[in-house]
Amino acid sequence: MPRDAKYALITGSSRGIGRGIALKLAEQGVKIAVHYYKNERAANETLAEVRRRDSDGFIVQADVLRPDEIKQMFRKVEEQFKQLDVFVSNARPEVPAFFQPPLQITLEQWDTAFDSQPKAFLVGVREAIPLMATGGRIVALTYAEGSRTGGLQPWVGMGSAKAALESLVRYFAVTLARRGITVNAISPGWTENSVLNTLPPHAQELIRNWHGRGWTPMGRLGTPEDVGNVVALICSEKAAWITGQVIYADGGASLMNPEVPPEIQLG
Ligand SMILES: NC(=O)c1ccc[n+]([C@@H]2O[C@H](COP(=O)([O-])OP(=O)(O)OC[C@H]3O[C@@H](n4cnc5c(N)ncnc54)[C@H](OP(=O)(O)O)[C@@H]3O)[C@@H](O)[C@H]2O)c1
Repeated sequence: MPRDAKYALITGSSRGIGRGIALKLAEQGVKIAVHYYKNERAANETLAEVRRRDSDGFIVQADVLRPDEIKQMFRKVEEQFKQLDVFVSNARPEVPAFFQPPLQITLEQWDTAFDSQPKAFLVGVREAIPLMATGGRIVALTYAEGSRTGGLQPWVGMGSAKAALESLVRYFAVTLARRGITVNAISPGWTENSVLNTLPPHAQELIRNWHGRGWTPMGRLGTPEDVGNVVALICSEKAAWITGQVIYADGGASLMNPEVPPEIQLG
């Protein structure tokens, strides 16, 4: 991140990938606004871990489906930090709130996906900009496989919402380029200690085996720490020339050919 980066807001950093990002930035001395929705205890645990890394911060609650609450969250960031160097849009509602195939998904579930992703990002970035100076970093968490494929049918709402989010990343990258603020999306593959762990044990096992067998060339699932490291990298001063990109952080999984079993591809 810029040499003097001091303050970051990471939505959904009470747990999962968001927590991994918060802790990696905290290791670099960045103070963290730990955002949560319902799980205050988990948010406090993240903050305690931030402090264990010799950094500091505070917790802030908001429902990202509600623009007024997003704005309120930024007011608290302004009160506490006065400025913002890094904004990471990571929060995503629980799977049952949107997980339905195209013919069954309700309009409410569709809106949940879109309100929580491109709309929350639109509102969040507009709030972040007045607090950000040259060198600011904006990062959105996406799942690019869900944006470009159609196989996981009940993902239609979130996949479409993430596609719109990725598009918005490109538009904002151009808007903010002259201010020296970069805007990028990070696309993790399946990640441990995240939404994965809420799936039925049988589904978790299938996914771990599939990736371990070779779908992820590196032979394992990612971790929140892996993703946190990549976000820290894109927030570094040296990443100032990268903007508007969707960056895969997936151990090579996106390189595999879906028509051929991994064992054959790996030779
Ligand atoms: N996990 C993966 O394998 C994977 C892969 C690719 C991309 N991603 C992306 O990475 C991001 C994080 O995923 P994850 O699996 O780490 O998430 P997760 O463990 O399910 O955690 C979700 C986070 O979002 C917050 N949240 C839930 N509903 C919210 C709402 N209505 N308003 C505000 N915050 C809300 C939660 O807060 P509480 O703790 O308070 O409930 C929590 O901090 C998502 O954008 C996801 O699409 C994940």
